[in-house]
Amino acid sequence: MAALEPLPPLQFRSMRVEDLEPIKALHEEWFPVRYSAAFYDAAVRERMVGTREPLHTIVAEDARTLEIVGLVTAQLTDAATCGDELFEPARDFRAEECSRVMYVLTLGSATRYRRRGIAKELLRRCVLRAEAEAGCGAVYLHVITYNDAAIEFYERNDFSRLREIADYYRIDGASHACYVYALFLSRARAGDVRLDDDDGRGDVASYLASALARAALLVPAAWRTCIRPRRGGGAGRA
Ligand code: ACO
Repeated sequence: MAALEPLPPLQFRSMRVEDLEPIKALHEEWFPVRYSAAFYDAAVRERMVGTREPLHTIVAEDARTLEIVGLVTAQLTDAATCGDELFEPARDFRAEECSRVMYVLTLGSATRYRRRGIAKELLRRCVLRAEAEAGCGAVYLHVITYNDAAIEFYERNDFSRLREIADYYRIDGASHACYVYALFLSRARAGDVRLDDDDGRGDVASYLASALARAALLVPAAWRTCIRPRRGGGAGRA
């Protein structure tokens, strides 16, 4: 078996305008969907395409060569923008304490350094950002159902599979389902933010699980408008 390439010393930072070409190349290598030029242009400015809302970006780079070897992009989403129905049933829900969620758009690490903890560290930093945001109760994402490596990765990192959504991705004319995964933050897991469970709905974590699953149908609609199918296929994942 070939020896593993030594993991270089890493440093972490936000995306910068000069990252545009490497960021685009890595997304095209890793993911089966093709993002628009506007998506990259906004992302390196830490903005969401279209809305110009803040985008959380973290890149891992080789501290010696400054080559980008991993990245994560995520958006803090106001639960209210997920659709009126998100918290509607929880009339007494303390929305000010758990009103937002961190949605991971993309996460990846360089092929030659995989299974060395780069993605784990990026995800950890992303979760820390979510925890630092007032009212953020969960980190969540979609993963195409055939992406076994990513599924294993998220499950290893304590994410829970909430549900499957059919026909979520359309790639090269074919429909693909996705899984919704979420990590509920300690505030919610600890049960210190609770629903009025007079009607038996339970605590906020279990409520968010169902609410997020429903919201999943709504939130990414805006996100999906900024991608278009990869032409000619590819080995990337989503
Ligand atoms: N098969 C099985 N389990 C895997 C695999 C694999 N090929 N790759 C990672 N894992 C899981 C295992 O639990 C592994 O632990 P182990 O090596 O002890 O068995 C663990 O993840 C490794 O964690 P990291 O080293 O932190 O992860 P890595 O840097 O390898 O990155 C990732 C994992 C992000 C899935 C990487 O394979 C990748 O970049 N893939 C292409 C892009 C992608 O699919 N991104 C996720 C799409 S979903 C989204 O972006 C919201």
